[in-house]
Amino acid sequence: MSFERLFAEPVLLTGSTGFLGRAVIAELLATSSATLLCPIRATSHEAAQVRGAETLHAALGRAPTHDEVERLQWVRGDIEETQMGMADEQWHHLASLTHDIIHCAASVRFDLDLDEAQRINVDGTANVFALAQAAAELGGFGCFHHVSTAYVSGTKSGLVDADYIPADVAGNFRNTYERTKARAERLLRDQTEIDVAIYRPSIVGGHTLTGHTDNWNVLYAPMRMIANGQLPVMPHAGLALVDSVGVDYVARGLVTLAQSERGDFVGHHLTAGPDAFNVAQFVDVTVRTARLLDKKPSEPQLVGPARWAALTTGVGLAAKAPKSAPKLRRWGRLGERGLRGFSPYAPYTAVSTRFDNRRERLVLEGAGVAMPPSLSYLETIASFAIGTEFGRRPLVDDSVLLSSARLEREVA
Ligand SMILES: NC(=O)c1ccc[n+]([C@@H]2O[C@H](COP(=O)([O-])OP(=O)(O)OC[C@H]3O[C@@H](n4cnc5c(N)ncnc54)[C@H](OP(=O)(O)O)[C@@H]3O)[C@@H](O)[C@H]2O)c1
Repeated sequence: MSFERLFAEPVLLTGSTGFLGRAVIAELLATSSATLLCPIRATSHEAAQVRGAETLHAALGRAPTHDEVERLQWVRGDIEETQMGMADEQWHHLASLTHDIIHCAASVRFDLDLDEAQRINVDGTANVFALAQAAAELGGFGCFHHVSTAYVSGTKSGLVDADYIPADVAGNFRNTYERTKARAERLLRDQTEIDVAIYRPSIVGGHTLTGHTDNWNVLYAPMRMIANGQLPVMPHAGLALVDSVGVDYVARGLVTLAQSERGDFVGHHLTAGPDAFNVAQFVDVTVRTARLLDKKPSEPQLVGPARWAALTTGVGLAAKAPKSAPKLRRWGRLGERGLRGFSPYAPYTAVSTRFDNRRERLVLEGAGVAMPPSLSYLETIASFAIGTEFGRRPLVDDSVLLSSARLEREVA
């Protein structure tokens, strides 16, 4: 399938150095003829070129061809600054070159305070959107493609549509990440002057065919603790659903949906939807995979919210035990350390939301873009993660940063 029609004109991509951004670079280079304009953080124009070259190499998993190098333009830009920190002349020049924008940059940390998360995820989006407005004023702007998250639906349970956003009240969200990503969406949805499309991946994991990743957040944090025998207890509540999709599926899904007919819809779920696994299955697959790879995993006992709260309180008290009780104190301190690593993710063991993806799957499956069944996907990513000791040693080959495009060719 060719994407020439939509992405033949230059595309500005933010977040190109990130986990998903690199997969989007590989996808656009392989399936379009577009020039990619990439603002990246750097101390100088020269430093941006060096960082850009490293990013392109990592995205492809090999040295780029001359043509690929020519198709990328790296500009120094920080989305937290007005005009991304660019002087008027450079800003207007960039606007004159830009036809579409894919806005992928964000902070994915769950523990930022609200002001900091707002500055990057909301004000940063507004700063990038200003470029779309400047480009539109010059004529010929296409669409602002915004990468959001399925978890903007916050704590709502049941089947959720990709255009649903809860009210901006702290209690509706698990953390400042979800809340500020929802604010960014609202900002875009509330304006009418520029065409906007929103993509909501769930938890983005390694490659669907090989499990390859170099991003060890979210799912991988408890997976590592289980594999290393450090997680004897885990909370779970409600349906305890874990919705995860491969980075290659998200990149390909985004590019495919971007050129499909949208009707009145703005939001698109890139999720496992009804096929999501649950916390018990996550634990089971992780433990089985670790054993197969000769590790000594913990076998976490799953406890409800009340027992989990009692346990965390008990650990806190034990950590403060007097020196005359060294064993208790040591147990408490070890427990506290474990809890610190796990606590940002603990709210995600109590998810009862199903991200409705029927509409998107229809389009994507028609274009040959599909996720493998969720449990077999989980086995793939667990094998890669545990087999490489979470990126500390190569699995079979010396290249740690293989691109989705190359991996797919190799596996085929
Ligand atoms: N990972 C997931 O599980 C997941 C799930 C759902 C949705 N998403 C969404 O997918 C998008 C990409 O996430 P990711 O996992 O690829 O995150 P990532 O690996 O942390 O990448 C974040 C990217 O944003 C850039 N960035 C952050 N602050 C910036 C700033 N002030 N100016 C310029 N660039 C800045 C980073 O640049 P530097 O390299 O300079 O830091 C990096 O390129 C985000 O919008 C995220 O909300 C991710």
